[in-house]
Amino acid sequence: MSAQIGVTGLAVMGANLARNLARNGFTVALHNRSVAKTDALLAKHGDEGDFVRTETLQELVDALEKPRRVLIMVKAGAPVDAVVDQLVPLLEEGDIVIDGGNSHYQDTRRREAALAEKGLHFVGIGVSGGEEGALNGPSIMPGGSKESYQALGPLLEKIAAKADDGAPCCAWIGTDGAGHFVKMVHNGIEYADMQVIGEAYNLLRSAAGIEPAEQAAIFEEWNKGDLSSFLIEITAKVLKHVDAETGKPFVDVVVDSAGQKGTGRWTVQSALDLGSPVSGIAESVFARGISSQRDQRAIAQTTLAAHEADIDVPQDFVEDVRQALYASKLVSYAQGLDMLASAAKEYGWNLKLDEIASLWRAGCIIRADLLKVIMEAYKGDKAPANLLFAPAFVESVGKAVPAWRRVVATAVQLGIPVPVFSSSLAYYDALRAKRLPAALIQGQRDLFGAHTYQRVDREGTFHTLWGEDGSEVSAVDTH
Ligand code: 6PG
Repeated sequence: MSAQIGVTGLAVMGANLARNLARNGFTVALHNRSVAKTDALLAKHGDEGDFVRTETLQELVDALEKPRRVLIMVKAGAPVDAVVDQLVPLLEEGDIVIDGGNSHYQDTRRREAALAEKGLHFVGIGVSGGEEGALNGPSIMPGGSKESYQALGPLLEKIAAKADDGAPCCAWIGTDGAGHFVKMVHNGIEYADMQVIGEAYNLLRSAAGIEPAEQAAIFEEWNKGDLSSFLIEITAKVLKHVDAETGKPFVDVVVDSAGQKGTGRWTVQSALDLGSPVSGIAESVFARGISSQRDQRAIAQTTLAAHEADIDVPQDFVEDVRQALYASKLVSYAQGLDMLASAAKEYGWNLKLDEIASLWRAGCIIRADLLKVIMEAYKGDKAPANLLFAPAFVESVGKAVPAWRRVVATAVQLGIPVPVFSSSLAYYDALRAKRLPAALIQGQRDLFGAHTYQRVDREGTFHTLWGEDGSEVSAVDTH
C-alpha cells in the first residue's frame, strides 16, 4: 500500500498530525529516529487509520506515492537541516518536503531556495493549536510554491480546523517563508493577547481586590461578549483551578516568571528590521523578560520607592478593565497585521489579510470571535491602511477610549505595571497626534550630525548651520 504522506519525527505534535491525517482517510507512512516511538504510536493508535511502519528514511521515501510528500516534525533549527540533508538524496524532482515546526522564516527561505535548485519543493507550514489542535484540527499556514500547494493543500485543508461557516482554517499564504512568517506573527499576537489578559487579571486583583475564583466568573462572562476567545476561555479555567496540595488558588502557587521558546522574540526582532512599530507585542516579550529577572526583582522590592497614590479605583472598574483589554487587544492585532503588510512589501509576498484572519478563526491559539470582524474589515477592496481605521473598530475602540484612559491612569497612580495597556494607548494616541516630537528629534539630529530635515511648508531637504550664523541651506540628504 503506498502512502499519501510520510511523517518523520513522532514526538507529540508529529504523532498527533499523523493521527489526524490517518483519521481523515489518508494513508500515512511513519518514521522516527528511534523505532520504539513508531511502534508505541502504532500499538496505541494503529487502529485509527491506515499507517505504514518504516524504520529508515529510505523505507519512508519508498512507501510514498509520487510526488512524495514528507512532513518533518522535529525541533526547529539544526535538527531540521539534519533531516533535510538526509532526505534530499533520496528524493526525486517534484517531491515535497514539508517542515511543520516553528522554524524561523529566514531558515525556511534559505531551505526553500536550496531545494528549489534541486527541483524539490520545500514548504514551511505554520501549525497552531498545540497538541489538541494537531490532533483534532489545527490552523495551518503553508508557504512554499503555489505549485506545491496543489499537491499538498487538499490534505492540509482536510485536517485543518473548520470555522463556523465550514471554511477550512488553511490557505496558501505565499512563497518561501511566508507561512512561517505569518505563524511567527500569530505567536507575537499570542504573546500580547496573553499579556493583556494578565494585566487585566493583575489590575482586578491588585487594584480591586478581586480573588481568582471570582475573576474566573468575570472572565466567563467576558467570554460571552466581544472578547469571546480561546485565551479568555482558558484564563477562566486557570483562575478557577485550586492547588490540591495547599488549597490555594493555582495562580498563587506558580512561580511568576514566564517562559518563552522564542517566536515572540523573533517577531520583535523581525519587526525592528522592517521598521514596523509593534510596541504592544514588544512590551509583552519584555514583560516576560522582566518577570524572569527574579534576582533583580527581589532587590527592587526592598530598594525602590513606590509612592503609590492613595486613590480609589473608578466606579465600574471591572467594565473599564474589560474595555481597556478589548482596545489593547485590538491594537496588538492591528500591529501584527501592519507588520504583515510591511513584510509583504519587503519579501514580495501577496499576503491576503482577510484570508489570514479567516484561517485564524478556529484551531489556533488566538482564535477569537473578533477575527470574523477583522476578516470582514479586509475583504474586497476596502482594506484599511490600519485595522484601527476599519469603520467597525473606529467605533468600538472609540467607545472604549475613556475607560482605557481611566484604567491606564489608575494603574500608573497605583504603581501597577500595565506595559501593553499603556503602550497600546500610546500607539493609538501617537497615530492620531497632529504633531509628534519627532520634529524636535530631527532638529537634534541636524544639530549634532547634520542629518538634515524636511520643512512643513515647502519641498526639499535642509540643514541649518548651527555652528555658524543659524541660517538654513538646501542640502542633499545623504544620511
Ligand atoms: C501555537 C502555539 C505554539 C506554542 C508556542 C508557545 O500556535 O500552537 O503558539 O506554537 O505553544 O510557541 O510559545 P512560548 O513557549 O514561546 O510561550
